[in-house]
Amino acid sequence: MSSLRTNDPTALESLFKSIPLTSLRCDTVLDFDLFLQMSPGDYPVLFRERHLRFDQSVLDKLADHKHNRLFVPIHQVDTFRKYVESNLKELLSDPAIPLEEKSRFVYEAAQGFMVEVMKDPRVGGVLQRSKDLVNTAVDFMATEDKAFTHLLKVVSFDYYTYTHSINVFIFSVALAQRAGIRDRNVLHAFGQGALLHDVGKSSLPASIINQKGKLSDEQWKLMKRHPELGFEILKEQGEDRSIVLDVIRHHHEKLDGSGYPDGLKGDEISTFVRINTIADIFDALTTNRSYKSAMRSFQALKIMKEEMSQHLDYDLFRHFVQLMSASD
Ligand SMILES: [Fe+2]
Ligand SMILES: [Fe+2]
Repeated sequence: MSSLRTNDPTALESLFKSIPLTSLRCDTVLDFDLFLQMSPGDYPVLFRERHLRFDQSVLDKLADHKHNRLFVPIHQVDTFRKYVESNLKELLSDPAIPLEEKSRFVYEAAQGFMVEVMKDPRVGGVLQRSKDLVNTAVDFMATEDKAFTHLLKVVSFDYYTYTHSINVFIFSVALAQRAGIRDRNVLHAFGQGALLHDVGKSSLPASIINQKGKLSDEQWKLMKRHPELGFEILKEQGEDRSIVLDVIRHHHEKLDGSGYPDGLKGDEISTFVRINTIADIFDALTTNRSYKSAMRSFQALKIMKEEMSQHLDYDLFRHFVQLMSASD
């Protein structure tokens, strides 16, 4: 059979997502089509249609032919991500999978999940799903010394609310650990709050979220409601852990009392909120938004130190600088 050929890797990327063979678990049903590239430069050809069981004999066949990477059609990426999410625990505990690949799986699963949550955070079962995902990712970060370094390599620097949420989750959990927080239940709750800190934005009009440049006074008034909206959404879903609710409601409070929605000051602002604030600002400065180019880490840390010192917890910020320099 003659295959179509492409010399343009971006053309291939616009049609297919390349996935590692290690992401496919034996004895699971794949809800996505699998394509194979027969030789470099070829367009992938259909290997197995979706809804088929993936078992050891298929795995052996692929491994024998050194097909370490396969392809999923781009319109089925969300299904692939959900598959990774449902198998995340097994993938992360497989000693045969390298840490870098495991970190990618965490990011893939979180991306799929956050896209769905930001569309409708009230859909049934979302809270349980996010608990499972967050607990698995937090346990991965708490047990693998190098997890943060590898996660940093897969962080996306294109700004979307969903990638921002994942980045803030990663920076926050790593900083909490660095600051000496070890209790797993506490880290689980904090991770949940960090991942969902901006979930209230899902209730705002897309025109405001995607607006390039400055918001009008009216738009800004609405935007400032997102911490309270997020807090309400989580409460409605039955979330009762005070750390989760605190981080979501108070993530725009500032130490000098100039933040919102409650105008909290100094000691009224918890360590968790302070950590989340550092992660939140750092990610906003280092990711690309269409109206400004991203700053490098060093420059972002410098600006945070020189221009935002009254808003940030200095001790935690010092830990954050050490964390980022240790991961270079
Ligand atoms: Fe926010
Ligand atoms: Fe944020």
